[in-house]
Amino acid sequence: MSVTIIGSGNMARGIGTRLVAGGNSIRILDRDPEKASALAGELEANAQNGVTVNAGSIGDSIEGDVVVLAVPYEAVEPIAGQYTSELSDKVVVDITNPVDWQSFDRLVTPPDSSAAEEISRLLPDAAVVKAFNTTFAGTLVAGEVTGQPLDVFVAADDPNAKETVVRLVEAGGLRAVDAGPLRRARQLEGLGFLGITLQQPLGLGFSSAWKLIA
Ligand SMILES: NC(=O)c1ccc[n+]([C@@H]2O[C@H](COP(=O)([O-])OP(=O)(O)OC[C@H]3O[C@@H](n4cnc5c(N)ncnc54)[C@H](OP(=O)(O)O)[C@@H]3O)[C@@H](O)[C@H]2O)c1
Repeated sequence: MSVTIIGSGNMARGIGTRLVAGGNSIRILDRDPEKASALAGELEANAQNGVTVNAGSIGDSIEGDVVVLAVPYEAVEPIAGQYTSELSDKVVVDITNPVDWQSFDRLVTPPDSSAAEEISRLLPDAAVVKAFNTTFAGTLVAGEVTGQPLDVFVAADDPNAKETVVRLVEAGGLRAVDAGPLRRARQLEGLGFLGITLQQPLGLGFSSAWKLIA
């Protein structure tokens, strides 16, 4: 499969690593094309035969049927505006944690909504899937914590889009957990925020992960 990642920061590296490990070709777009190229080169160095990684600028065309928005929540609205028609038939993966960084005490989204639902309103013809917001970037590069594969909680209303993301997660060596409809993103974003707030007090250094065990 071919996947476009918008953004070339820590999460683009983590998710890109897992996608390439799963045999997917990727395209990385950043507002700074040099940053996109640098990450593409890094990821391509570990790619198996037949997997390609290319780079461009935000505004360039998208490749493939899946697009990962690996940018801060605040950056999504202009990007969605720029790509509304191109994203209309795509699976759009929302990984954001819409934290109010000033207060570090709340999310910026309305209490009866989530970043994923707000993005779905911005892109009504896209199939928005919430995933990867509870997995820290460094743990995605490793693919595991203490030898256990990461759990990636996936929420979406479109069953085909959800299945596509589940397959990508599993191909990358991670465990996908079907978290239900897109509105479960409210709880997932709360969980992501809780995980962030626990790092400093518990001295976890962003190397922890949420895992469902039974
Ligand atoms: N880090 C984690 O462990 C983690 C875990 C779960 C979810 N997330 C979520 O993942 C998303 C990305 O986080 P990250 O850690 O990868 O951040 P990051 O390392 O700071 O990278 C952010 C990326 O977004 C781009 N960007 C920032 N502002 C932009 C704007 N206004 N317009 C266009 N592009 C912009 C940056 O471009 P430049 O390089 O040009 O600045 C960079 O490529 C966030 O929504 C975050 O909540 C992060």
